[in-house]
Amino acid sequence: MSIRVFSSAIRTHLQPHKIHAAVSVRYYAGLPKAYMPYGKTGHGNYGSTLGKLTAGYMEPVRNKILNWVKSIPFTAKDSVFNIGDYGAADGSASMAIIGQMLATLKDQHGPEAQFQVIYEDLEVNDFNSLFKRMSGIIPEPPSYFLEMDNVYVLAAGTNFYKQCVPSNSMHFIMSMLAVHWLSKTPTNFKDSIYKYPESSAEEKMALEKQSEVDFETFLLWRSRELKKGGLLVIYAGCEYEDGNSGKVKYLSETFITVLTEVWKEYRESGKISKEEFLNTNLSVCLHSMSQLRKPFDDKMSAVSKSGLCLLSAETVIHPDIFYTTWREKKDKEGIDDREEFARMLKSAHRNWSNSTFMNGLSDSRPQEEKKKIVDELYDNVEKRISKMSPEEFKDDVRLIYLVIRKE
Ligand SMILES: C[S@@+](CC[C@H](N)C(=O)[O-])C[C@H]1O[C@@H](n2cnc3c(N)ncnc32)[C@H](O)[C@@H]1O
Repeated sequence: MSIRVFSSAIRTHLQPHKIHAAVSVRYYAGLPKAYMPYGKTGHGNYGSTLGKLTAGYMEPVRNKILNWVKSIPFTAKDSVFNIGDYGAADGSASMAIIGQMLATLKDQHGPEAQFQVIYEDLEVNDFNSLFKRMSGIIPEPPSYFLEMDNVYVLAAGTNFYKQCVPSNSMHFIMSMLAVHWLSKTPTNFKDSIYKYPESSAEEKMALEKQSEVDFETFLLWRSRELKKGGLLVIYAGCEYEDGNSGKVKYLSETFITVLTEVWKEYRESGKISKEEFLNTNLSVCLHSMSQLRKPFDDKMSAVSKSGLCLLSAETVIHPDIFYTTWREKKDKEGIDDREEFARMLKSAHRNWSNSTFMNGLSDSRPQEEKKKIVDELYDNVEKRISKMSPEEFKDDVRLIYLVIRKE
C-alpha cells in the first residue's frame, strides 16, 4: 500500500403486434433523500465552488491513467469507445482528464475512432449545467467537446447502485468522490450527524455494514457493464489513523464537526425538534484502505469472481486549498482574511451537505421555512469558522485511488 502526500419492478402488459410481453419497468418512487445538489439548476454552482477544487484531485494519477487507458482493447473499426463518469455532478471536475484521455486515445486509434462519454448521476442532478459546460455556455473549465470530432456526450440520470448502461459495453469507467454516498441511511446517529468516536457500537456497525454492501453492489454492477480488459478508476474520500494522535480521522472532519455543533445548539434551543436532529444524518461512509481493498484481496469474493482485479491502490494527501490560499494572502500581502477563508470553505462544502439538513427537517414545515433554517445554519457555521484560526481548521484532503481491471 502506498501513501502520497434507488423502485421495485411492476409488470405492465403490452400488446405490440398482438404479441403479449411482460415487461418490467421502473416507476417513480419520489425524490431521493440522500443527495440533492445545492444551487440554482443550470447556474453551474457545483463547478464554481467544490468542483473547482476536485478537478485537481485527478492530477496525481493523471499520467498513470493516461498510460493505462492505452492498454484497453479496442479496434476503432469495431464500434465506439465508451467512457463513463459516475457521480459526475455538472461534469466540471472530470472535464480536463476526460479531454486528455480522449486526446491520448485519438492519437492511438486515429481520428476516425468514435467515442461516447456517458455522464451518470442521480435523476435530480444538475444535468442542465453539465450540458451548458459541454457547449461552452458556461465557459470554464474549457470544454473538450467543442474541439473534438467523433466525440458524443450523453447523460444517464440513474443510480449507480443499479445497472446504468448495457452489459459488456464500457471500456473505461471513473467515479470521483462519489462512492462514499450510500444507497440509504443505515442508522440515525443519536448525538451527531455522522460517526463520532463516541458513537455507539451499533451505530458504527450499521454504517460499516451498509458501506460494505453498497461498495460491493457498486462494483458488481460496474463489473457487468465493463468489457473484458476495461478499466474502472475510483477515488474516494477516506478515513485514516492520524500518525501523531493515533486518532481515527476522516475527510472534512473539522467542517462536519462545526456543522454538528451548530445543529446541536439548534436542538438545545428548540429551533429544531429532537426528532429532526435524529433524522439528520449524512448518508455517507468514508472508507478506510482495508475496506476498499477487501473485495479484491478476498479472491473468493463475488467481486473477484466477477473478474474485477485491483491493479493499484494508493493514498494521496492533497493540501487544504482554503488554508493555503489564506496563508499565501497573509504571508505575501499581510492580510489575515479569515472571513474569506470561512466563506470559501462554506460555499464548497454546502454543495454536498445542504440536502442532509433539508431532509432532516420535518415535512410538516413549509419548504420556505426549512430553507430559512438551513440558510441560518450555514450563516452561523461561516461566522463561527471565521472566528477560528485557519491553522486550527486546516483539513488536508486524503483520498484513496483504486485502479481496477475487468479480466
Ligand atoms: C461530491 S460529488 C462528486 C462530483 C464529481 N465526481 C467530483 O469529483 O467533483 C458526489 C456526486 O455523487 C452523486 N451521487 C451520490 N449518490 C449517487 C448514486 N446512488 N448514484 C449516482 N450518483 C450519485 C451526487 O449526486 C453527486 O453529484
